[in-house]
Amino acid sequence: MATPTQHIFSAAEESRLVKADKAHYMHGYHMFDEHAEQGSLNIVAGDGAYIYDTQGNRFLDAVGGMWCTNIGLGREEMALAIADQVRLLAYSNPFCDMSNNVAIQLCEKLASLAPGDLDHVFLTTGGSTAVDTAYRLIQYYQNCRGKPEKKHIIARYNAYHGSTTLTMSIGNKAADRVPEFDYAHERIHHVSNPNPYRAPDGMDEAQFLEFLVKEFEDKILAIGADQVAGFLPSPSWARAG
Ligand SMILES: Cc1ncc(COP(=O)(O)O)c(C=O)c1O
Repeated sequence: MATPTQHIFSAAEESRLVKADKAHYMHGYHMFDEHAEQGSLNIVAGDGAYIYDTQGNRFLDAVGGMWCTNIGLGREEMALAIADQVRLLAYSNPFCDMSNNVAIQLCEKLASLAPGDLDHVFLTTGGSTAVDTAYRLIQYYQNCRGKPEKKHIIARYNAYHGSTTLTMSIGNKAADRVPEFDYAHERIHHVSNPNPYRAPDGMDEAQFLEFLVKEFEDKILAIGADQVAGFLPSPSWARAG
């Protein structure tokens, strides 16, 4: 990889980029006023677990991108593999009866890693679209088999499932539930988050577990077992806000 010092920008270039960022780039999860005033940290290079800004300052990328740069940054073998594939076939339509060699191999690999009879893969562009698609498949499946009432899903408070309208409604993370957005409610239900640190006062771990199981059971009974189609137990409680 090119050394970080090769990416140091002149003050004029950096100032132009900061202005352009403020003028044109809308960042998710950012405060608009704060962005307009302070701008953002402009990252220009990455190497392993480190990222570098335009002045050559090094930062530990402790969250791993958005927890998605699992093999680190600046990996030569990844760059070469991507370049080879782009030269060979940069895009291929996956709709209807079209397929392609690499997507088939990826699905085959994922099916081999998935448990039990989970052997079909639907490729999406990220986590939000994966959760959205799972819910759409629930609707499709239940409608097809003549059980249109069995489409209720149960998720957890303070879990994160994504940033589309549906997934932020399923997520119900306290810090994200701001009144400026609208949320879908129909057929979406929530039960307590299993974070033991946030257990109700005076409850030890065993009591909390019992409470969670009972709450879940009561929720299914209240909705009607014949109407519940799925449970989305997000693991992201550790980041619950
Ligand atoms: C459990 C879970 N589901 C869904 C998502 C959304 O993924 P994406 O940001 O790729 O849309 C995330 C992202 O953090 C997640 O942690």
